[in-house]
Amino acid sequence: MEVIITPSAGEASAEAARIAAALIHGKPRAVLGLATGSTPLGFYDQLAAMHARGELDFTEVTTFNLDEYIGLAPDHPQSYAHFMREHFFSRVNIAHWRTHVPDGLAHDISTHCRAYEIAIEEAGGIDLQLLGIGSDGHIGFNEPSSSLGSRTRLKTLSERTIADNARHFASSAEVPRHVITMGVGTILDARRCVVLAFGEQKAAAVAAMVEGPVTADVPASALQFHPASTLLVDEAAAAKLKRADYYRWVYANKPAWQRA
Ligand code: PGA
Repeated sequence: MEVIITPSAGEASAEAARIAAALIHGKPRAVLGLATGSTPLGFYDQLAAMHARGELDFTEVTTFNLDEYIGLAPDHPQSYAHFMREHFFSRVNIAHWRTHVPDGLAHDISTHCRAYEIAIEEAGGIDLQLLGIGSDGHIGFNEPSSSLGSRTRLKTLSERTIADNARHFASSAEVPRHVITMGVGTILDARRCVVLAFGEQKAAAVAAMVEGPVTADVPASALQFHPASTLLVDEAAAAKLKRADYYRWVYANKPAWQRA
């Protein structure tokens, strides 16, 4: 896994946006896997700014979001469908029909999850998957003990995730217990993964993801098997990485042709 430690979350977000923009410039019909939460907000700001400057066209881009709360309608303020419209889709020229977020109101969840997988496949697969990491080591909403081969399905949130996400709701009792999430296997199928992690509350999960054993106890550690994943972290989230100096050395010596 490539590890890039940046002085600030803003610089990491800018680098992630640069990676996404380079993809779209080279492949206007790119398929992006997108994430929600506090972490990717700067990334979306950067992409929206590039679009506003006339540098980035989303006309032919397709997107698939990682996850959604079960029971929340797309217009619920805490739904991820709403989050995506507010923070990204409404700010760029993406066609609504090319954006996909799991349906939290799906009547038949298993059928909906299978259809989501088929839609990703029919779109040609995900070129670039953006990811955050939970303080419990989840990616998407694949909580500890998730199968590392899992596909899109229903998951029950961990108590830690419910506590982490309660800040977005009136109380933790209002956080839905169930979600639909792409599986770890779905994520590993993306051609490239970019993980963002900021702040000291992510430092332990980041170290376990990069340097710990590959284990279902830390679903993000499955990314060690991914052939093209990049982690962009600020100093606080990098604080528990044993090999931080080596990662800085590698990045400082990254060949120019690899930076393109
Ligand atoms: P956060 O969530 O960006 O709100 O910290 C990350 C995640 O749970 O994947």
